[in-house]
Amino acid sequence: MAKKKLNVGMIGYGFMGRAHSNAFRKVSNFFDNEYVPVMKAACARDADKVKAFADTWGYESTETDWRKLIERKDIDAVDICVPNNLHKEISIAAAEAGKMILCEKPLAMNAAEGEEMCKAVEKAGVLNTVWYNYRRVPAVSLAKQLIDEGRLGKIFHYRAVFLQDWTISEDLPQGGAGLWRLDSAAAGSGVTGDLLAHCIDTALWLNGSMSNVTAMTETFIKERTHTATGKKQPVRIDDACAFLAHFKNGSLATFESTRYARGHKALYTFEINGEHASIQWDLHDLHRLNYFDHRDDSIVRGWRSVHVTDGDMPYMGHWWVPGLQIGYEHSFVHQVADFLGNVAKGESTSPTFRDALETQYVCDAVLDSAKSGKWEEVGK
Ligand SMILES: NC(=O)c1ccc[n+]([C@@H]2O[C@H](COP(=O)([O-])OP(=O)(O)OC[C@H]3O[C@@H](n4cnc5c(N)ncnc54)[C@H](O)[C@@H]3O)[C@@H](O)[C@H]2O)c1
Repeated sequence: MAKKKLNVGMIGYGFMGRAHSNAFRKVSNFFDNEYVPVMKAACARDADKVKAFADTWGYESTETDWRKLIERKDIDAVDICVPNNLHKEISIAAAEAGKMILCEKPLAMNAAEGEEMCKAVEKAGVLNTVWYNYRRVPAVSLAKQLIDEGRLGKIFHYRAVFLQDWTISEDLPQGGAGLWRLDSAAAGSGVTGDLLAHCIDTALWLNGSMSNVTAMTETFIKERTHTATGKKQPVRIDDACAFLAHFKNGSLATFESTRYARGHKALYTFEINGEHASIQWDLHDLHRLNYFDHRDDSIVRGWRSVHVTDGDMPYMGHWWVPGLQIGYEHSFVHQVADFLGNVAKGESTSPTFRDALETQYVCDAVLDSAKSGKWEEVGK
């Protein structure tokens, strides 16, 4: 197959900048797409640091102003890996410039911003995707396959948690690299938009839309020094959030997230209970899917731990041999691979901006409910 080039310009070189760069570098070694990404330019504000980053990862050039990157004629796709408060402005400018967009999650600071972004990409007709990468962990993709095949039957319960413990110290400042997550002006919200957004995206994908939610949030440390000012400032993000939800298919859900769960680093788990079968997944053991099927003969019935490494399992035919697992970074490779495949078809890649807007509606309803103390409709 004759290969076509897709020139990528990436903005932001932090955690996600590295994860995405790694994916752009690897994807064409393992996936045979008509389009091949070319790492054309990396953009960040510090010229020396972005140059060092570009040299390490193999970008051809650098920019220090994202507007310049977007203006460049030799850029086909813009990859947004910066804090949440910049997603809207960059996405809209990129759409108006006719660029394809790969935007980090959460799509926006809130649903109102997300709506504007959806309108902009749809008006411009540019291909888009949002990096809810957990959909493309093979075990999670397999969960989707099992549910869509009807193996679970009617679903009764969806249960998800995302637990971390890195913000317990009151000496931790807010603002700056990584720590922008504690600053509501940069993040929009706390664990709701950062961690629960992942759980919500997976849940909407696996189990359909939610109708309403009731939530509680807490901010355990009320003031932190801001990196920009050196002064103590109020903390306005949610440190912890728990919510109940009704799905439109009649199932009930519980979601919980905190960065104060001592001992847990990135414990994202979900469990789904259906009429015939249940499934469980755990990010700390991401290549396994636990499955229980009540239709098995009673004498051998029990939870099975499926090692998701066989070539007939989602994405695994592209990697090593059965029995050899892959990990976190590969979920990003898979998203790029799907994106490139869809570019050839002229289609956006799920979750699109429009798909990711549904997660924003749920996040808004959760935060509204935590304030009102009432059940809130999703997308009201
Ligand atoms: N998909 C996932 O699992 C996942 C994981 C982590 C973060 N994220 C998302 O990715 C985004 C980035 O998070 P991160 O963890 O990489 O953050 P980070 O702090 O590690 O990196 C952010 C980068 O943005 C750059 N930046 C900030 N303002 C800029 C500007 N005006 N112009 C150019 N560059 C600018 C910073 O220099 C830094 O390189 C966030 O939206 C976050 O929610 C997603």
